[in-house]
Amino acid sequence: MSAITPKMVDSINDQIRAELESAYIYFSMSAWLEDQNLKGMAHWMKKQAKEEMEHVEKFMHYLYERGARVVFEALEKPAAEFDGPAGVFRTALKHERYVSGRIDKMMDLALAEKDHMTASMLKWFVDEQVEEEASADEIVKKFEFLGDSASSIYLLDRELGQR
Ligand SMILES: [Fe+2]
Ligand SMILES: [Fe+2]
Repeated sequence: MSAITPKMVDSINDQIRAELESAYIYFSMSAWLEDQNLKGMAHWMKKQAKEEMEHVEKFMHYLYERGARVVFEALEKPAAEFDGPAGVFRTALKHERYVSGRIDKMMDLALAEKDHMTASMLKWFVDEQVEEEASADEIVKKFEFLGDSASSIYLLDRELGQR
């Protein structure tokens, strides 16, 4: 096993920060949805936040396995106000696209460094981002299709509560 480069370690640590920040954002969205009494949507978003925490742990575990150190950075304060429930999910989709771009750049670095172990680990995240974008996109499209009447919000809240 060849040693992981400091540059790759930094990039993974920075992604640990980004995954924590994702959880922070989704917890903030979940809290906002709770405050709007949209408990189903709040539940969906809380699950999303917890998935991000799993991503954090995956990266941490990987660094341990490579004998590298996990170093935490400061998190940015998440938004506390959103442009309605549809706006929450539009923002979540935009955020997932941003995260996909970050994972792609990490993969570029791993390949440039001929670090196949990291590339293989990252492949899971590339696949995961397909799912993450698709599930957010599906909800955004449902909002577009159903409109933002009280009855469609009620319907979507019930559906998302099933997650
Ligand atoms: Fe993630
Ligand atoms: Fe995500």
